Amino acid sequence: HLHAGNLNALLMKDRPVIKVGHLNTYVIGSYVDHRFREKQINTIAIVLRHEQATYSCVMCCDGRNVTSNAEYSIHSDHFNFEYGTATITCPINSLCLTLTHVAITASGVLGSVTSFQPVRNRDAPTTFPYEFTICISVMYDFKSVLNLVESMEMFRLLGAQRVVIYKTNCDSETQKVLDYYEKSGFVEIIPWTIKKHIVVSTGWKPDISPGQLHYYGQIPALNDCVYRYMYQTRYLALQDMDELILPFKVKTWTELLPELENMYGTDVGFEFENNQFPFTAKPNVDHEMEAWKHVKGINILNYIDRVPNIRNAFNNYKIIVNPRLVQKATVHGLLESVNGSPTVRVNNAIARMYHFKNFTYPPNTNLIRDDHLWDYANDLIPAVSKVLQDYGFIEA
Ligand SMILES: *[C@@H]1O[C@H](CO)[C@@H](O)[C@H](O)[C@H]1NC(C)=O
Ligand SMILES: *[C@@H]1O[C@H](CO)[C@@H](O)[C@H](O)[C@H]1NC(C)=O
Repeated sequence: HLHAGNLNALLMKDRPVIKVGHLNTYVIGSYVDHRFREKQINTIAIVLRHEQATYSCVMCCDGRNVTSNAEYSIHSDHFNFEYGTATITCPINSLCLTLTHVAITASGVLGSVTSFQPVRNRDAPTTFPYEFTICISVMYDFKSVLNLVESMEMFRLLGAQRVVIYKTNCDSETQKVLDYYEKSGFVEIIPWTIKKHIVVSTGWKPDISPGQLHYYGQIPALNDCVYRYMYQTRYLALQDMDELILPFKVKTWTELLPELENMYGTDVGFEFENNQFPFTAKPNVDHEMEAWKHVKGINILNYIDRVPNIRNAFNNYKIIVNPRLVQKATVHGLLESVNGSPTVRVNNAIARMYHFKNFTYPPNTNLIRDDHLWDYANDLIPAVSKVLQDYGFIEA
């Protein structure tokens, strides 16, 4: 079997991105999928779309190398960038009892193994350590400490038990806060290093924001998160740091989800309507905190005016979903689910998404007053102040 020294050289498990031989393919993570009659490994990858690639999986089964041909599918939401997300799939032989590692290789003579990586989701438990997990993709050039802490504490108040952040870079103060949340087990940081290999775009239109891959690689990161947490959480929220999904009749997601499942069923994902709260609007300072003013970022509690949504226009909704229903995730909803069920739009009197950002909006817009966030202020303010104090951002 694999020689120990050999194995260590090949197991670069701390490297989040692995190039496949001579191909322009970058492997992110490999996961056992237990949802079909025959077990398979799904590998999330970033691929040069026009390259004619064929892959094999070299699986470490019961200490032996077993090779099988892979199939792959490039996700359709590539926004015409050169690179896109792919799912590379290999069947798992039923004689393979203990599958520990896999290497994706180019098929044929050139396809030698460059690196094995651990196979995740080897078991499929039916109870999960987390009820609600949030996937945040991607943290890039981040320095708004106050916004980070406000978001984390709001996520906690809403009932999230885990936040997964795909992180490219941030400033040292942000890192300090991330370290704190990571140590307490609330946050998992996944290093997101694809920009070492290819040029990521800062937007979604190649002509306006040039680059080789859509928006910092958000889509492969989201798909990796779905598979990584498939058997770790009952529900996943696929959203950004500056977005809050707030219910109206109840306070938390813990109370909201049973209500939604009663209304819409348990075999669908739930879409939450996006509502924009621009930082360019006049602040409402009822909850202004003097002490927070010196912390980098913007206090979202000051922004309670939203831009009216245009009826029938596309809405940048985000979803909460049982990850075991997901086959392919995209920025807004799902590309493919295992049961063919779509996601459903949650009635906006039940819950909505509040999105706080430096939005621009047409002049003469009549913004709508919506201070629902203030219903959380009494819990949010002391929680945020405590974190800022503990880490020396403000005085006790
Ligand atoms: C499995 O493949 C790796 C990479 O090619 C090689 O180093 C190792 O010796 C192989 N193990 C066996 C048991 O053939
Ligand atoms: C918000 O946008 C305005 C106008 O585009 C700009 O002047 C301002 O600096 C921006 N503020 C932040 C915090 O990015």
